[in-house]
Order: sequence, then structure tokens, then C-alpha cells
Amino acid sequence: MNAQGHARPSDPLPRRFSGGMLRRLVPGDLAAFQAYRSDPGLARFQGWTSTSDEEALAFLTGMQEAALFVPGTWVQIAIARDTDHALAGDLGLCLSDDGRDVEIGFTLSRPAQGRGLATAAVGAAMALVFDDSAAERVVGITDARNHASIRVLERAGMTRAETRHVVFRGAPCLEFVYVRARPR
Ligand SMILES: CC(C)(COP(=O)(O)OP(=O)(O)OC[C@H]1O[C@@H](n2cnc3c(N)ncnc32)[C@H](O)[C@@H]1OP(=O)(O)O)[C@@H](O)C(=O)NCCC(=O)NCCS
Repeated sequence: MNAQGHARPSDPLPRRFSGGMLRRLVPGDLAAFQAYRSDPGLARFQGWTSTSDEEALAFLTGMQEAALFVPGTWVQIAIARDTDHALAGDLGLCLSDDGRDVEIGFTLSRPAQGRGLATAAVGAAMALVFDDSAAERVVGITDARNHASIRVLERAGMTRAETRHVVFRGAPCLEFVYVRARPR
């Protein structure tokens, strides 16, 4: 990590936005990361479950320098406060195998919620995708019961494109697919 916080000279992170920044996850995020990642309410509609400190540290270390847009691979980046750059949540990006779509997922710690930070971070992440990959669309997939997530996706300018019946964690549920196309 150099003095500007870039993992390497060509790294598009950190990326600032009004109220916060997208930056690399780092091992020093461990305590804050574990605090919200062990909250079952935040994990309810998510693909992840809580992990040991050892596993989380290995994950943060790996994400510190992970390439951003590798087909079929999720990369997780930090959503940080603008004041002190402390970890407020994280956001995942995954380029599809055909390189056309980037799926996005996001989580905010409870104290960071309710101020528009997630919406602004998703907006910044969409700009990052369109600036730094050749993907044509950003896609957000959410459980139909996850109203906070739906509001974030809609406020960030995404449009509901599909409704799917799926099985998640062994239970049937409905999910909405939101899409934002690359601006022309
Ligand atoms: C989804 C999640 C990130 C949304 O968090 P959030 O805090 O509601 O979203 P934002 O940070 O964008 O804040 C928006 C809220 O702040 C309010 N707000 C207050 N001041 C604001 C301001 N100055 N600017 C913008 N919004 C403001 C908005 O009205 C909105 O509240 P509302 O949805 O009740 O109308 C959060 O619920 C979460 O982490 N959930 C668990 C993980 C998850 O399910 N992720 C989705 C998977 S796809």
C-alpha cells in the first residue's frame, strides 16, 4: 500500500464519494469487520456467514491486493467513513464469466446505517465498474423481503428487470434482479 492508499500504482481504489470512500479492505479492519459480520440480522439475506478471527484476517489480507475484475470471482472492498476512513461496511463485486455483467452486494454496520452511505457507495461502485471494466451492466440481486436493500438499489438508479423463484438456504423465496446499464 503506498502513501495514497493505493495497493498498486494503477489501482482505482481508493475512490472517494460524498460522505465516504471505497477503499481496500486491510488487516486492520478486523475488529470492525467481525463486529458487523457476526450480526445474524445483517447476514439474513446474504451469501456469507460469520467466520473465526483467523479466517477473517486471512480474507482481509487476501482482499487487500485482490484484482478487481476477474471473471467469475468476487472481490470485496471497504465502505469507509470520510472523516477517519474507518470501516463502515463492505461491498462485493463479481464480473460474470462472459465479462458482460458485474453483480454487486453490500452490507453496512448498524451504526453506519440510515444516512445514505450505502446508496452513495453503490453509486460510486457503479461508476468504478463503468470506468475500470468493460462490463455492460451492474446487477443487484435481492430477496423480495429485503426492503432496505431494495430501497438502496432503486435510490442508486437501478431498475427491477426480473423476479425469480429460488431456493435460498433451503427455503423457497422470491428474489428481484435489479439492473443498471452502462451510460451511453
Ligand atoms: C442494505 C443496507 C446496506 C441498507 O442500509 P441503509 O442504511 O438503509 O442504506 P443507506 O445507507 O443508503 O441509507 C438510506 C437510509 O438513510 C436515510 N437517510 C437519512 N439521512 C440521509 C441522507 N442525508 N442522505 C440519504 N439518505 C438518508 C434514507 O431515508 C434511508 O432510509 P429509508 O430506507 O428508511 O428511507 C443495510 O440494511 C444492510 O447492511 N443490510 C444487511 C445486508 C444486506 O441485506 N445487504 C443487501 C444484499 S443485496
